[in-house]
Amino acid sequence: MTEPAQPHIEVDTDDDRDSVISDDISAFTASITSSVLDYPVEHGRRYHAFRAGVYILPNDELEQERLDLSHAVMTKAIGDKLFLAPLNMDKVHRVLDIGTGTGIWLSGKWNMLLTNWPSINQVLGNDLSPIQSPWVPPNVKFEVDDVECPWIYEAPFDFIFCRYMTCCIKDWPGLVKSIHDNLKPGGWAEFQDFDLQYYSEDGSLKDDSHTLKWITALLEAANKLGREPCTGPRLDGWVRDAGFTKVTHQRFRVPIGAWPKDRRMKELGMYNIAQVLSGLEAFSLRLFCNVLGWQENEVLVLLSHVRRELKSPGLHAQFDFHVAYGQKEE
Ligand SMILES: C[S@@+](CC[C@H](N)C(=O)[O-])C[C@H]1O[C@@H](n2cnc3c(N)ncnc32)[C@H](O)[C@@H]1O
Repeated sequence: MTEPAQPHIEVDTDDDRDSVISDDISAFTASITSSVLDYPVEHGRRYHAFRAGVYILPNDELEQERLDLSHAVMTKAIGDKLFLAPLNMDKVHRVLDIGTGTGIWLSGKWNMLLTNWPSINQVLGNDLSPIQSPWVPPNVKFEVDDVECPWIYEAPFDFIFCRYMTCCIKDWPGLVKSIHDNLKPGGWAEFQDFDLQYYSEDGSLKDDSHTLKWITALLEAANKLGREPCTGPRLDGWVRDAGFTKVTHQRFRVPIGAWPKDRRMKELGMYNIAQVLSGLEAFSLRLFCNVLGWQENEVLVLLSHVRRELKSPGLHAQFDFHVAYGQKEE
């Protein structure tokens, strides 16, 4: 496995630090028809309607807020950047963001992508859910689409971006091939994703902890569903196998909590624990109840233990985030 770019994360031994975390962190393209908006509700959460059931996470307001928080985590983890591929921006005009979620990467608050790179004149985002803001510049377009169906685009792209699709995709080599096929010669693709295996480097995440029990069951359920939950470390191989050249892979450590000593890592850990705590039920309900056959109450009890452990000062848990990019031959 590729060694992470940063050294091992040093623990902050100042006992007051945890006061900062309080309890209150606490295809086929479809037009937007009523059936696409006819969202099912399960376990008190709202889910996507187009190709209903293929994606495990909700699409409600709470989840949209969490996605925007995880955008902050992912951009921060890689050095406050949207992408790492060495693009020649004069040549990048048409960009696709697959599984765009709230669309924050391509049209977020400050429209970073379009403001920083005015050569980009056409941006497309697709997703199973039409949850993106309608208030976007005229050159940004969103479509309801399933990226695991055949792709039908009128023109190829200069850059295709695919982030945080772990637990979403049944056939990763097929998806990477669709991306390769839909790039212009010389175009780039970038994949950014998590390895959802939680771990600690100082043994503070114990084998008999509720947190490890929970994440192990979650990984098992995602695998049972045929949706890889530890996508990050596999991206590099899939990108090479699809025929990309100049392939580069980097691994980044992402702390869960305010425990790191380094200020930047501490801030990253605080954003991350906020998104993890707010997502615990979203991550777990469909997988544990529908795939593993748990009762909703059992899941909620386990999650209350996980929540308590993750907030405890002695736990120095983390997971990894990976970036792999490559170029289609000129
Ligand atoms: C975890 S979110 C990540 C969103 C976004 N890529 C980001 O990084 O902020 C995954 C997104 O992929 C979408 N998705 C899952 N399976 C999909 C599929 N087969 N086709 C299109 N979108 C999909 C979900 O609806 C969800 O919005």
